[in-house]
Amino acid sequence: SIVSPLLRTGYHFQPPMNWINDPNAPMYYKGWYHLFYQYNPKGAVWGNIVWAHSISRDLINWIALEPAIYPSIPSDQYGCWSGSATMLQDGTPAILYTGINRPDINYQVQVLAFPKNASDPLLREWEKPAAYNPVAAPVGGINATQFRDPTTAWYADGHWRMLVGSVRDTRGMAIVYRSRDFRRWTKAKHPLHSALTGMWECPDFFPVSGPALQDGVDTSDAGAKYVLKNSLDLTRYDYYTIGSYDKRKDRYYPDNPNGDYHRLRYDYGNFYASKTFYDPAKRRRVLLGWANESDSVPDDKAKGWAGIHAIPRKIWLDPSGKQLLQWPIEEVEKLRGKAVTVGGKVVKPGEHFEVTGIATYQADVEVSFEISSLDKAEPFDPAYDNDAQKLCGVKGADVKGGVGPFGLWVLASADLQEKTAVFFRVFKDGYGKPKVLMCTDPTKSSLSPDLYKPTFAGFVDTDISSGKIALRSLVRTD
Ligand code: FRU
Repeated sequence: SIVSPLLRTGYHFQPPMNWINDPNAPMYYKGWYHLFYQYNPKGAVWGNIVWAHSISRDLINWIALEPAIYPSIPSDQYGCWSGSATMLQDGTPAILYTGINRPDINYQVQVLAFPKNASDPLLREWEKPAAYNPVAAPVGGINATQFRDPTTAWYADGHWRMLVGSVRDTRGMAIVYRSRDFRRWTKAKHPLHSALTGMWECPDFFPVSGPALQDGVDTSDAGAKYVLKNSLDLTRYDYYTIGSYDKRKDRYYPDNPNGDYHRLRYDYGNFYASKTFYDPAKRRRVLLGWANESDSVPDDKAKGWAGIHAIPRKIWLDPSGKQLLQWPIEEVEKLRGKAVTVGGKVVKPGEHFEVTGIATYQADVEVSFEISSLDKAEPFDPAYDNDAQKLCGVKGADVKGGVGPFGLWVLASADLQEKTAVFFRVFKDGYGKPKVLMCTDPTKSSLSPDLYKPTFAGFVDTDISSGKIALRSLVRTD
């Protein structure tokens, strides 16, 4: 197929062509960042899944290599699904992933792979030792079609432990496996954690160093707190909780007992099946996630690709200890060219101000808004049930409110027929405290009829009492 040079992303990750979904086994090895990903070598729709492989020096500029993991043994002959990398004590990376081993149904087992040649910094070839594979099979009441996406393993008190996502009835869970030698794995009696949320895809479990400490922690090192993230198949979002980990019992306890249902998310936009890794080169934890395609399937086929990975973010614990903070990795700033600066603009209700002079196809935008007064903030209507998305759906970018909407049309056609809004609205909660809603309203982003254009939204837990709020936006156009 012909790959259109147009309509490609600039900031975000994508391979030269074809379908991608989840990021797999991100790691830093001998000077290179490695990213593997769910990939269809034959087209722009999901299917024929292998692990494609790209490498980078800076997590921004990528070189696509040939697929690294593809069906080659009985355990994975019908697909190589998601998984993770672990650095063993001798410095060798190991990969655990889900193999599909039956043609008719998606019957899932966990497979172990090692580099064929660990002295090759590019880690091009992987082998799957027959003596140990599969390392885990769905026995003892595990649903064979809901048993996947092993995590990075961590080491404590003589044992490696890894998690596999699963579900029993509607109880999503992270099943624990233990191993002394990383080759023979035994299922633990109890899951690390579970909740009535439906299937847990792509679990991720990692330590963080402590409130406001931006340094990351290696997955096997002790953290001040722990984070458990799951991708909810039912609603298609990634939620996390912060809590403590009992390594003797291999149990995780969220700090907020309602956390599994309040559902903090990494991202309130199009972001799924994410995974973090510890980057020893910059002592940080980096988050990567998949944004699925907004184009229709015929359009995907015509353009020859579908799906991106959102710009990598550094992630750490907020000073409150109650949520995570994140920011695009600093390397993205190397892409900045000429600066265009405007300041002190007064924008009245119903007006807009156009930033001109950006003679380029991508822009790293930093804007700060100052609201003259929060007095007019509307009382927050409990009928919205704390559902940010519902609220933004009703009060889109063109609905006037007490304070707001204010924000950016990140991209607009000259006649403003097409425009993509990212904006805020401020409400007052029952105690008169400001409550900040952040939305993206893509409903007018294109005149094309058959796009996926859901409104995305979240409440931003930030202090706006000074009337100031800042927004960073990475914009790309062709
Ligand atoms: C998540 C997911 C994983 C699975 C993979 C298959 O998007 O469904 O659970 O391993 O994608 O491509």
